[in-house]
Amino acid sequence: MTAEEARSAFPVLERYAYLNAGAVGPISHATHGALIDAEREELEHGRASWPYLIGMIEARSHLRDAVAAEVGVDADRMSLTTSTSEGCRIVLAGLELGPEDEVVTTDGEHFGLLGPVHASGARVRVAEVLGRPAGEALDAILAEIGPQTKLVAVSHVLWVNGHVLPVHDLKDAIAVPLLVDGAQSVGAIPVEASAIDFYTVSGQKWLCGPAPTGGLYVKDPERLRVVMPSYFSQERHEPDGSFEPRGGAARFDPGWIPVPYLAALLAALGGAPEWRFERSREVAEHCRDRLVGAGYDVVTEAGHSNLVSWRWEGDTMAAARVLGEQGVLIRDLPGTGLLRASCGYWTSDEDIDRLLESMAGVS
Ligand SMILES: Cc1ncc(COP(=O)(O)O)c(C=O)c1O
Repeated sequence: MTAEEARSAFPVLERYAYLNAGAVGPISHATHGALIDAEREELEHGRASWPYLIGMIEARSHLRDAVAAEVGVDADRMSLTTSTSEGCRIVLAGLELGPEDEVVTTDGEHFGLLGPVHASGARVRVAEVLGRPAGEALDAILAEIGPQTKLVAVSHVLWVNGHVLPVHDLKDAIAVPLLVDGAQSVGAIPVEASAIDFYTVSGQKWLCGPAPTGGLYVKDPERLRVVMPSYFSQERHEPDGSFEPRGGAARFDPGWIPVPYLAALLAALGGAPEWRFERSREVAEHCRDRLVGAGYDVVTEAGHSNLVSWRWEGDTMAAARVLGEQGVLIRDLPGTGLLRASCGYWTSDEDIDRLLESMAGVS
């Protein structure tokens, strides 16, 4: 697949410099087509036939395989969720923590992770990583771990500045389970999650799937309680509701995912070119260099992920809105004074030119 073919898969790129896949990725013709075909099938043949049911079960199985392959893990340890936030809720609730327990996290996390961490009832220790060089993040996290720590919960890629946390070194250095929020990593950088205890996937961001879709890798499904059971969780159950969980991580499947969404995410996963990570890295570095060259205070260090953030004097939300009106879609990061550009394999150097030109007009 050439760069031109990759770009032409996404019609939205004809109109916009689409620099916001860290929020939601662009939708391709193929992904949209798969969704529409499945919707039409439901319209014309209904949602209650035996073949429909079999098709749904097969679609779930194919999608589980594909999501697992995306992060290099066995499919039987992958649960199909609707988001990273849901994956975090499943883990934090299943660990059944109490006020004597501690969870260690960082000051660079999204509420999708932080909310469930707080709601678990455990004490939360927050390692300060945002104000330091990325190379000091590991030590800052390790310094917060103590005898009461029951879980370390961090992002692989920090949504605030795009820095990659060394999650494998972290895993090697700790004796407690590690939950990794993969919202900004899966589809953006190469991920090998098999050694991590829990790893979440968001389908709607860098994987360019429909919202809401996602996954949760659980290394050892037997060791996490199913506290939010769905019909998919059980092999069989008793009149009092006690149940034998399904084998593997499918027991954590939170419920029905519309068949058109299953088909669309599967199509999206099949559409990315092999060179996606190299190109997105290259264009992210180019974006960073251009911003630094133009005098912006870029907080993202070189050589990290697909996200580039810089300080903005004044109202970031207003700036993002004005840029959006000019066809440049970026993210303002509330409460930080930062703007953020997401660079995917589909991003062209001209998109970065448009970003710089539009900002020059705003400042
Ligand atoms: C690091 C991080 N975690 C979690 C989320 C929430 O993801 P989801 O909508 O899949 O729950 C986001 C969304 O921006 C994010 O950036």
